[in-house]
Amino acid sequence: MNKMINLSKVTKHMIKSTIKGYGHYVPENVVTNDDLSAVMNTNDEWITERTGIRERHHRKNRNDAEETTAYLGFRAAENALKNANLTAKDIDYIVFATLSPDYYFPGCGVLLQEMLGCDTIGALDVRNQCSGFVYAMSVANAFIKSNMYKNILVVGAEVHSFGLDFSDEGRGVSVIFGDGAGAVILSASEDGDSGDILAVNMHSEGKYAEELCVQFPGTKFGWSDRMRLEPEQVTNREIYPIMNGNFVFKHAVTRFPETIQEVLSAAGKTIEDLDMFIPHQANLRIAQFVQQKMGLPDEKVFNNIQKYGNTTAASIPIALSEALQQEKIKRGDLVCLSAFGSGFTWGSVLFQY
Ligand code: UT7
Repeated sequence: MNKMINLSKVTKHMIKSTIKGYGHYVPENVVTNDDLSAVMNTNDEWITERTGIRERHHRKNRNDAEETTAYLGFRAAENALKNANLTAKDIDYIVFATLSPDYYFPGCGVLLQEMLGCDTIGALDVRNQCSGFVYAMSVANAFIKSNMYKNILVVGAEVHSFGLDFSDEGRGVSVIFGDGAGAVILSASEDGDSGDILAVNMHSEGKYAEELCVQFPGTKFGWSDRMRLEPEQVTNREIYPIMNGNFVFKHAVTRFPETIQEVLSAAGKTIEDLDMFIPHQANLRIAQFVQQKMGLPDEKVFNNIQKYGNTTAASIPIALSEALQQEKIKRGDLVCLSAFGSGFTWGSVLFQY
């Protein structure tokens, strides 16, 4: 079934991309810093001081096949649909951002299409890690502004707890990440009063790919030229994320202010016009550094890393959903979403709610 909207009825320049619904979902199982210190050499003081994280959610156990990344995305999407007062049949297109898909391929988008019972609509997977949701929103915005689709489901979801090194060797990375999902419905609107995405930007710098990556399974470093993964890579713990934390941190605090300034300028706005800034939840210290550098007061920045850790592509939509639920964002407010992470990739979405 062709889900494209009738272009003849819509004047292109009048179309706005408005957030019609939002939602999030995290697994019930809460893992505190003390829980982690029971399995590896870490402690609550180190994690809290260096990252701001107090707890995160992990799917129940390693055998819990139900709470996959697509499933978390499905639960967040259900909440977003309910919030938008829409059904799955109203969705014209899916954009799904994750770095932890259920399968090596296909991606999670098609799994979500099936779980929701959507028609045979398009489902696009975005592989931009921490910037995944910003990239996904940019794509959805472009489809809406070019009259392609009316209602696009944009999802960011991750199951990290399945792929972390919980030995002492992996402590610098594994204490940071958590599981979860967030979703928004981005819809076309011709109503002069409705919200709109005003500007976006996306950047990449692939020379730093190996500063934050998972190498296996992959095709670059295979020991034989026919295998994506050998048993040795599992025993050598090479299947886990590698992160040069200090290096990533330094680049993040430089790139965040750049991308924020760029997106504001593109829309003819200044930092004083901003009502809410939602940074990717990588580290509370990064968010606080950026807040200080941009001169933003506390009430104009939303952080929830304390409860969820870093949920990569899910961190911005979970934070956005919570900020909206808590009425920290009101209709008409100017909101900036910004992310930086593996790739390196970074970027921002500026919208009027
Ligand atoms: O979302 C994707 C983008 N990611 C980021 O933006 C992350 C950016 N980087 C960071 O957030 C920080 O670099 C980390 C939180 C990852 C690490 O904080 P840090 O202040 O840079 O610590 P460090 O890596 O320099 O390690 C300091 C010390 C080391 O011990 P020594 O060598 O000083 O004796 C580590 O071995 O802390 C030790 N350490 C730990 N100690 C207790 C590392 N991890 C842990 C741990 N518990 N979990």
